[in-house]
Amino acid sequence: MLDIRYDENNLPELANLIAKNYDQIDENDKTGVKRIAVLTSGGDAPGMNATIRAVVRAGINAGFDVFGVTRGFHGLWKGEISQISTRDVSETLQRGGTFLMTARSKTFSTPVGVVKGARMLDIYGIDVLVVIGGDGSFKGARDLARIGVPVIGIPGTIDNDVASTEYTIGFDTAMNTAMEAIDKLRDTASSHERCSVIEVMGRRAGYIALNVGIATGAECILIPEISTDFDKIVVRGILDSRNKGKRHYIVIVAEGAGTATDIAKRIEDATGIEARPTILGHLQRGGSPSLRDRTTASLMGVRAIDCILENRFNRLIVQRDDKITDLDIEEGLKMTKSISAEEIAQTKRLS
Ligand code: F6P
Repeated sequence: MLDIRYDENNLPELANLIAKNYDQIDENDKTGVKRIAVLTSGGDAPGMNATIRAVVRAGINAGFDVFGVTRGFHGLWKGEISQISTRDVSETLQRGGTFLMTARSKTFSTPVGVVKGARMLDIYGIDVLVVIGGDGSFKGARDLARIGVPVIGIPGTIDNDVASTEYTIGFDTAMNTAMEAIDKLRDTASSHERCSVIEVMGRRAGYIALNVGIATGAECILIPEISTDFDKIVVRGILDSRNKGKRHYIVIVAEGAGTATDIAKRIEDATGIEARPTILGHLQRGGSPSLRDRTTASLMGVRAIDCILENRFNRLIVQRDDKITDLDIEEGLKMTKSISAEEIAQTKRLS
């Protein structure tokens, strides 16, 4: 292990030292890696515990000592690192949230924070860091990789907005939670002949809104990827449905496309139909993970350990063409994905 005298004024030199230390790992065979650490970062997602469990168990079975970092990158630079055993992850598979806890670290988004994090990994003798989170968390991991710390990323976010993968852990559970809530809202909207406007999460992406809208038979789905003519699509859509005899209406708005409160007011003003807004909010982030999230989490965790055993570092574990695979972290962060106009157009054929 390096004996580092940490000096805020000498960050480049420190980064070089750390890089030199980690460089040796690439030349070693798989026995070169002895200690790995895992953290969860960004917004929590159902299935994060199942992912940690998979990394811990597959890691220990491969002969590694596995450490957990609490509070994401924020805990990392503060040295919140301790060893986890196979038994420590018992009964976590079915639990929502993340027992390692998570945070959005301002410090870690600066070069000083990244070097501080690398220094802590070096102090604890950690050879590889596994990061569970979204693109923001992967940028943190990529910054560590750039100064020589081997990393592996596993996508965990309810938003499904990580471009390099078709699927992110937590997405399925969040959509099912939203769908069940909207089914309940439909009952009361129907009794009162109202329009229920429901705001779902997704940050700048509309994946939750699109799928939940299809699954709940929404009149309109508003997403940030596609601009919508409010009068022609929303107002006309609701009035057409009413004129065909419909007595209640569901409108789904992705948080990146507007607010339920604003859309409900505009619908009521334009149509005279009573409209009520509901923001599903953090409800969508909780709960026991679905079968899909548990299995994806488990398989992705195992794949992460496979990468380490095969000396393939700085990889993102992804789902492509329905298969769990991995790709280079720099490459993955350059990718983009979006929802096409055709996808949203198809939903209109169902109303
Ligand atoms: O990224 C997950 C997510 O739940 C987004 O859908 C949402 O915009 C954001 O996190 C909310 O963040 P916070 O938990 O900080 O309120």
